[in-house]
Amino acid sequence: MNRTPLALPKDFRFCVTTASHQIEGNNTNSDWWAWEQIPGKIKNEHRSGRATEAWNYFDDDIQNMKWLGVDTYRMSIEWAKVEPKEGQFDQNVLNEYLSQVDRLLAAGIEPMITLYHFTFPLWVSNQGGWDWAGVTPAFARFTEQVAKTLGTRVKIWCTLNEPMTVIAAGYITEVFPPGRNNMASIALPMENMVRAHAAAYHTLHRLLDSETFKPEVGIAHHLRIFDPSRKNNFFDRYASRKFDEIFNWAIPEALKTGKMKFNMPFLVKANATIPEAINTQDFFGINYYSRDLIEMHPLQKEKLVRRVAEGSEVQDLGWEIYPEGLKRLIEAIAVRFPRMPIWVTENGTADSKDHGRSRYIESHLVAIGETIAKGIPVKGYCHWTLNDNFEWAEGWSAQFGLFELDHQTFKRMPRKSATDFRNLIQNHRGQVGGKA
Ligand code: BGC
Repeated sequence: MNRTPLALPKDFRFCVTTASHQIEGNNTNSDWWAWEQIPGKIKNEHRSGRATEAWNYFDDDIQNMKWLGVDTYRMSIEWAKVEPKEGQFDQNVLNEYLSQVDRLLAAGIEPMITLYHFTFPLWVSNQGGWDWAGVTPAFARFTEQVAKTLGTRVKIWCTLNEPMTVIAAGYITEVFPPGRNNMASIALPMENMVRAHAAAYHTLHRLLDSETFKPEVGIAHHLRIFDPSRKNNFFDRYASRKFDEIFNWAIPEALKTGKMKFNMPFLVKANATIPEAINTQDFFGINYYSRDLIEMHPLQKEKLVRRVAEGSEVQDLGWEIYPEGLKRLIEAIAVRFPRMPIWVTENGTADSKDHGRSRYIESHLVAIGETIAKGIPVKGYCHWTLNDNFEWAEGWSAQFGLFELDHQTFKRMPRKSATDFRNLIQNHRGQVGGKA
């Protein structure tokens, strides 16, 4: 196999990722829109508003992706727009997504579709969101409408984006809806996420499988490194292992075995059997950003503390930049899911001055190359994200874009790192292409 200095194979895929609520604007029928209206929830009282006007600038964004040289675009479909009222599907919205997919294909860019990226229609969240027993059939029905509209134009599907981010931010740290702080309550929404994923997985295969076509269906999991803060401290070691077991692996394991079982004494436990979830991942999607050092203080009120390694390089949000972590996690995936194709479905950095983004990208691609050299089938790398967008609780303050957004004109301006990413992709293709 020909390799560039990044040690990536010839057919390695380059991609950028976005999410509907963060880029489209006017997502008025969603739980996130409602959440944003509550004072104090979003930094600086920012609102998603018109976001990046993604629908009006879709062709410009395609041009920018072509200029970058990416071959894949991971985007999400907004359930709150497709089904603004229970059972009422908006055909115009479905047609808009169909047209976007067609325009991508015409430009030679393969769409990868996410069906849930953190937002619910209000009618779902009003009935309990992930706690609601009806969420699974509702999600399956929505999936069916989308699959019937887009059909075999789309091969790679992510049912859910980062289930555990929703659990952590929505049920423990109160920064996402439903805004809870109750670790003991996470098992039910986690089970429902597994059920909803399984239902969507089977729906997609039922509708789209044929002799000549099989969709690839998975989840974009947010995996983090959890290391003990005090290396030889029993409690820190124990807690970091538990974080790894529950945050990183409880859901992926359930998609293999149909069982979700964990126990963090006095804090949370789960014991569910979900047979329909057995073997419902065709690929493993990993979103990787950072690592946490974990401390456990059994006798204090705040028993669990997450911190950043001292002296480490951090990005604008204070997250440690730790490319080695991506390598460690991909290797861990390969142990648990031997031979399963892996996609890095997100990786990126909040870097408004663009000081470190190029290095961030390159170092993470080097880490990926090292895993591929060991025979692990990593198929592609999706950078988060194309343009600066509405960064959830951080509002507009965190800038993850390869392109800077002008909020008055909606103009997208390439940062230096966009040019560097482009060069890196061109060099890769040129070098492997030349030798082929
Ligand atoms: C999410 C994105 C988010 C990004 C940066 C990921 O966890 O999927 O929606 O914007 O991280 O925080």
